[in-house]
Amino acid sequence: MIAAISASGLRGRGGAGFPTGLKWERARAQADPVKYVICNGDEGDPGAFMDRAVLESDPHRVLEGLAIAAYAIGAAEGYLYIRAEYPLAVRNIRAAILQAEGRGLLEGLRLEVREGAGAFVCGEETALIASLEGRRGTPRLRPPYPVEKGFRGRPTLINNVETLASVPWIVRHGAQAFAAFGTQSSKGTKVFALAGKVNRGGLIEVPMGITILQVVEEIGGGMRNGREFKAAQIGGPSGGCIPARLADTPIDYDALASTGAVMGSGGLVALDDRDCMVDIARFFLRFTQAESCGKCTFCRIGTKRMLEILDRLCEGNGRPDDLQKLETLTDYVSRGSLCGLGQTAPNPVATTLRYFREEYEAHLHEKRCPAGRCPALIRYRVTDACIGCTLCAQACPVSAIAYRPYEKHAVDDSLCTRCDMCRQACQDDAIEVV
Ligand SMILES: Cc1cc2nc3c(=O)[nH]c(=O)nc-3n(C[C@H](O)[C@H](O)[C@H](O)COP(=O)(O)O)c2cc1C
Repeated sequence: MIAAISASGLRGRGGAGFPTGLKWERARAQADPVKYVICNGDEGDPGAFMDRAVLESDPHRVLEGLAIAAYAIGAAEGYLYIRAEYPLAVRNIRAAILQAEGRGLLEGLRLEVREGAGAFVCGEETALIASLEGRRGTPRLRPPYPVEKGFRGRPTLINNVETLASVPWIVRHGAQAFAAFGTQSSKGTKVFALAGKVNRGGLIEVPMGITILQVVEEIGGGMRNGREFKAAQIGGPSGGCIPARLADTPIDYDALASTGAVMGSGGLVALDDRDCMVDIARFFLRFTQAESCGKCTFCRIGTKRMLEILDRLCEGNGRPDDLQKLETLTDYVSRGSLCGLGQTAPNPVATTLRYFREEYEAHLHEKRCPAGRCPALIRYRVTDACIGCTLCAQACPVSAIAYRPYEKHAVDDSLCTRCDMCRQACQDDAIEVV
């Protein structure tokens, strides 16, 4: 079984892309007679719901993968760690366990579902184990890896939901059939939660090797309202922004890593020319900063200092050495953190600084947001194209535009909250951001 999984080229879909067969082999090689298998269904990335969909709609597929993994490494006990915000997934997987047990399909394997309380860091394997053991969910230094010393100090195999869901297919269709999809180093298919400014968002399953541009254009149906594709944010909060000029980068672990992004667990957000890259970096960093467990100083305080700088830049209060400081902290935080959360938290900042430095400089030196996004740096103005249709006045939630039929309208800057509703409501392109 392990030889088949290795031959398929399957790599972990939980983010790091570790070869699944190799991990199983190491778990099997442990001398300890007591071993555990764990299905990681924590899925804490904002906007990601790939694992949720499989757990809710095809729970037997995941159970089958977990049972095969347990058989392959010699484990008699397993856990499914699923975040509590997924009540339907929890209910369906529990029902599936009862059904499978009722038919004698799980003989020799005892499975239990545990609900995670919603901390992003608890998806990290050592923090997950701590949480399963009833301790505070913080990561620990590796080695020893969980395959050597994991749950209750015993060898433990942890795999992601999507990884496990791929296993029955490989066993049924053969390793070669799986390896027929993809590239040299990344085999099979990958599920993404496609979001952002594309015409068609949602869950997609694509063969590895497909390019980002193909995903955006062919599957996503191109950008909404004919706007210009600017960048793809891939890999969730640990990921990076790939600019449109590199959109022919294939979905492949190594190719993505060479751009500074990561495959991650499957978030893919298409950004257009109205998205501010400083603000995007701030959005993801705000998430990781809030989710840092606080164990490592660089992650706890470094991400906080980085976020303060991004806040300053977006408000037009940047200081001369802010970009330099951001670069220094990017390096310190990624090198000084013991788990993947801190190691990758600076990625959105590092990639936007690398590919969109001019936007950072405009915020810093000119107090200007080129994408017209950062509220503190923009104003809305009605142009001469206004025909007095009043749509903007009707749309404005704070009455910053007086209702004046057939007359040119105006925005009261002291009331305007920069919510963009007027611009979206205007049918004559008569509202501009300056
Ligand atoms: C902060 C952080 C969060 C993580 N969250 C998840 C998660 O929600 N689901 C997951 O499968 N792996 C997650 N991982 C990766 C796990 O540590 C581990 O690599 C993975 O579960 C192994 O399974 P795989 O080899 O099948 O990918 C996370 C890692 C980090 C650093």
